[in-house]
Amino acid sequence: MSPAVPVCRQTVLVTGATSGIGWQTARLLAGQGDTVIVHAPDQASGDDAITRLVADGANALQLRLEVADFSRLDEVRAMAARVADEHPTLDVLVNNAAVAAPERRTLTADGNEIALQVNFLAAYLLTHELRDPLSAQPHSRVINVSSSIHRTASIAWSDPHRAKRYSRLATYAQSQLALTVFARAEAPWTSVSVHPGVCDTALLPLYAHEGDSAAEGATHVARLCNPSTELVPGAYYDRTTLSPPAPVALEDRTVRRLCKLADRLVAPTP
Ligand SMILES: NC(=O)c1ccc[n+]([C@@H]2O[C@H](COP(=O)([O-])OP(=O)(O)OC[C@H]3O[C@@H](n4cnc5c(N)ncnc54)[C@H](OP(=O)(O)O)[C@@H]3O)[C@@H](O)[C@H]2O)c1
Repeated sequence: MSPAVPVCRQTVLVTGATSGIGWQTARLLAGQGDTVIVHAPDQASGDDAITRLVADGANALQLRLEVADFSRLDEVRAMAARVADEHPTLDVLVNNAAVAAPERRTLTADGNEIALQVNFLAAYLLTHELRDPLSAQPHSRVINVSSSIHRTASIAWSDPHRAKRYSRLATYAQSQLALTVFARAEAPWTSVSVHPGVCDTALLPLYAHEGDSAAEGATHVARLCNPSTELVPGAYYDRTTLSPPAPVALEDRTVRRLCKLADRLVAPTP
């Protein structure tokens, strides 16, 4: 009889795991035996996501639900504190949650444009607040699910909330560029960003009329979560292919400037 192959089971937090690529990523990871922390914006959608994962064959004992509305930074902080408390080691964080920027510019209670906050600032804050569990072992990874649309974007440094000139697409694209740049920030863990492909989810209308299935997109995300996939720190992947991001994302100055801006925008209001 051949000796049993040790199976490396990880603890992975997937944000925006109630639908689309996030839910499918949670499904794939749970299916390979990982403990999956399923993040949802509210209790009802979270309960529903867990029910569907279990119906699909996931072991309920390997699933944890965490609820936080990313349009509220206090909820992001509270969730990070609970996760850090319950999981001294976090192997992988998948920053996947996102919204399309609304037709009319919308500010959160924190004073940030909503797509910038949900898609980027919440991920930035969550990652930093989880620094202890992410630093607990040397090989943890942060996978930012961004988008090829970042190539069309620029960061409006003096008007990040787009008060002067608002366009839904430019605002969403800015959030995706920010997430892509953030993957290059120095950290004790390995960060990358990935374009999962154009997929048939609630966000499809931003991209095209038809796309791959969310399950297909999730395979590209789950592959990067796998400890046997060697990652290039700070890299951007177009599905499975290592790909140069927009030139601006390669500038160290842009990384520093973005982190400074994000630090200011996520700071608790006195
Ligand atoms: N679909 C594409 O073609 C495509 C292409 C490139 C990149 N992407 C990226 O892929 C990622 C996943 O998107 P998707 O296409 O799978 O879209 P999706 O199905 O709409 O999933 C987005 C997830 O984010 C959650 N979310 C939305 N608002 C939130 C909030 N305020 N607080 C916390 N969570 C919130 C959603 O929860 P509810 O559904 O429960 O509201 C959902 O779980 C995104 O980062 C997106 O930018 C998608």
